[in-house]
Amino acid sequence: MPRQFFVGGNFKMNGNIETIKSIVAHLNDAKADPNTEVVIAPPSLYLLLTREHLRSGIEVAAQNVFDRPNGAFTGEISVAQLKDSNITWTLLGHSERRVVLQESDAFVAKKTAAAIDGGIGVILCCGETLEQREADKTIEIVTSQLAAVAKEVKDWSKIVVAYEPIWAIGTGKVATAAQAQEVHAAIRKWLGESVGSEAQEATRVIYGGSVSEKNCKELAGEKDIDGFLVGGASLKPAFVDIINARSS
Ligand code: PGA
Repeated sequence: MPRQFFVGGNFKMNGNIETIKSIVAHLNDAKADPNTEVVIAPPSLYLLLTREHLRSGIEVAAQNVFDRPNGAFTGEISVAQLKDSNITWTLLGHSERRVVLQESDAFVAKKTAAAIDGGIGVILCCGETLEQREADKTIEIVTSQLAAVAKEVKDWSKIVVAYEPIWAIGTGKVATAAQAQEVHAAIRKWLGESVGSEAQEATRVIYGGSVSEKNCKELAGEKDIDGFLVGGASLKPAFVDIINARSS
């Protein structure tokens, strides 16, 4: 079975009630390829607003979730609370959280397990720094980030892996299609060896890092690139062109 093309929009800490409503209205009216699965991730404060206004058929993701069910964890949100609010996905392990908030591979893995056990999908981010790439450590870094999750999670059917080289995020410096394809193929091989043949076949591996309406078509032409995680461009009307990268 071919893997369904998947495009996520990561708004990060951007937007307000007015701009998020306007992005949602634009998406509701857009001619989006029905074969693309689309998920948008606004800041947590706007998750409910987004879900309320967004048309069905497009899902909403949190940008993070905690690994405990409830209790005295000031500032955190649980998987059950997301489910209760019809938020069916979460991002986890974004490099901005790994680097700025110092989240470890093990913590990301625990949160991924909590999300999967609780029945929501996970866009699991991984990626190397420029220094690591130049030291030829890209595959080692990315697969060790994923291996931490494989220790905790056996069922990868609700995980989408987002390969996001840190040097490409928000920099305008996109990985070439060949560079991305090389890592995506390595991730797929690792999935086969470490999770199983079904995960190798079926897991979507999407690319993130300065994806735009200009570069998405070439990237989407690669055989192991199953979609995108889009930051800056997801706030713009051109996000629809990225959703449609495979269709026109
Ligand atoms: P960018 O961000 O598209 O703005 O580079 C991607 C991401 O961080 O998910």
